[in-house]
Amino acid sequence: MNRIRASPGYDAGEALFVGSQILLRKIPSARKKTGRWQGDTSCPAGLYFENLHSTIAEVIMELTQMLNTLSAGRVLDVATGHGGFAGYILENVKEFDELIGVDAVERYGEAFGQAFAGQPKASFRCMDAMQLDFPDASFDTVCMASSLHHLPDPARALREMRRVLKPGGRCILTEMYSDNQSETQLTHVLLHHWWAAIDSASGVVHHETFTRAGLVELLGGMRLAWQFADERDLESDPLEVEGIRRLDGIIDQYQSRAEALPGAAALKQRGEELRVRLHAIGIHGATQLVAVGENS
Ligand SMILES: C[S@@+](CC[C@H](N)C(=O)[O-])C[C@H]1O[C@@H](n2cnc3c(N)ncnc32)[C@H](O)[C@@H]1O
Repeated sequence: MNRIRASPGYDAGEALFVGSQILLRKIPSARKKTGRWQGDTSCPAGLYFENLHSTIAEVIMELTQMLNTLSAGRVLDVATGHGGFAGYILENVKEFDELIGVDAVERYGEAFGQAFAGQPKASFRCMDAMQLDFPDASFDTVCMASSLHHLPDPARALREMRRVLKPGGRCILTEMYSDNQSETQLTHVLLHHWWAAIDSASGVVHHETFTRAGLVELLGGMRLAWQFADERDLESDPLEVEGIRRLDGIIDQYQSRAEALPGAAALKQRGEELRVRLHAIGIHGATQLVAVGENS
């Protein structure tokens, strides 16, 4: 099993992009070799579980097998970041006509372009997920990975995805959730919520993660025929030394950011308590809901 190495999230402001350039260079070959997707590296402070998404992708054989038989047509990946999930989709679908990745952060266009160099059917557009600049029923497949809790109005973004989806089309969505986690997974959830608190206090939209029921309710509003799967990996070493070392570095960065914020003392104390927890219990990635909805 793959090791957890760092943490997810996204950079909506001044990115630090810790290690992201290194990972970016790995993306095309990793996709070719394994058919997995790499987690987005553009996190609140450039933080990521480098192998978290690939680990999850490894166990979501059902989704991969479904994709293998899918003629995906015109594909839209919303909140695409560097295009990590979009790449996973393209590597695994049977065929597709075109993929457009959209993200509110314009500079991700460059990283996306690098990731899809030599793939003329993939392009990036800077766009707000809550106001998609596409006609109704214009995509056969719409996707979103690990982004709902980063959006100011998740329900509105889902309505937009539904609007641009053709009859007979599919929506593919993945999102971690906060409840029914093991103690080691809870470390991930609690860290994530602390990052969200610091991002929010800094003016960056980053909500706490949804409960599973909350996610299902949100997706229910899209009125698609949904199939859900819960994906987790508890086999890796939760105290793997290199992973803990990198997370310590990430905690340090967030502690520095917290210093300038209102309520700094409480935020910093919370961070140190999480560090103690990380070293005592360790960490596994939180379970993700993988949802495939058909517009039948
Ligand atoms: C954690 S990243 C996920 C990236 C990608 N989906 C993946 O998993 O490989 C969250 C993404 O949401 C994007 N985002 C945040 N607010 C947005 C908005 N209003 N419209 C479009 N994208 C947005 C961020 O810029 C960031 O790239």
